[in-house]
Amino acid sequence: MHPCKYIIVSEEEEGYPLDAFCIPSHYEAYLERVLVPCGLIMDRIERLSRDIAQDYVNQPFTALCVLKGGYKFCADLLDKIKQNVRNSENPTGVISVDFIRLKSYVNEESTGKLKVMGIDNLSTLAGRNLLIVEDIIDTGFTMSNLLVLLKEFKPKSVRVVSLFVKRSPNSNGYKPDYIGFEVPNKFIVGYALDYNEYFRDLNHVCIINEKGKVKYGKK
Ligand code: HPA
Ligand code: MG
Repeated sequence: MHPCKYIIVSEEEEGYPLDAFCIPSHYEAYLERVLVPCGLIMDRIERLSRDIAQDYVNQPFTALCVLKGGYKFCADLLDKIKQNVRNSENPTGVISVDFIRLKSYVNEESTGKLKVMGIDNLSTLAGRNLLIVEDIIDTGFTMSNLLVLLKEFKPKSVRVVSLFVKRSPNSNGYKPDYIGFEVPNKFIVGYALDYNEYFRDLNHVCIINEKGKVKYGKK
């Protein structure tokens, strides 16, 4: 497997001013800075997709998209993996997609409770190579719990790709097989990552400001 190289966004990284990019006007007042522009995300996904396609030669797999936050990453990643596959002399074989929803977040806090929804019968995953596609790993508890749960259904293999991994002081040490970016312990939104369902319609990954936390916080 490919050694896991990824982009480290340092603690000192200030990101970019909002007015250097196009931000939906309805969000301008509620964001601090742009941390990872959408174009950089796409460039990173291009390389992740190449690494993944090369690791799955002759290994058909099922991408298991973790909704809702993972929907854009999953769609863009699979587009690029398929592009690699159709241009490759050593393709993967059939790629299928499935979707799950996990509930474990209320505001910024992890509740530590995991509920899996979206697949009626997880036994259909038996014997398959699973690639779990996640938007962000924070404490790691959600993913660790999911992996334990899925392994009971005897998949052939399980790997995880996460676009972001947070340097959380509460991390349980879990690291996914493929990582897009390691980011500071700040709340980020955009590119389908939300704050209470807001900001999914923001293309760049940004840091939310205090005003935004109040405005869109759970009442
Ligand atoms: N943003 C959005 N969702 C999240 C985050 C975050 O920073 N951390 C965990 N889930
Ligand atoms: Mg997620």
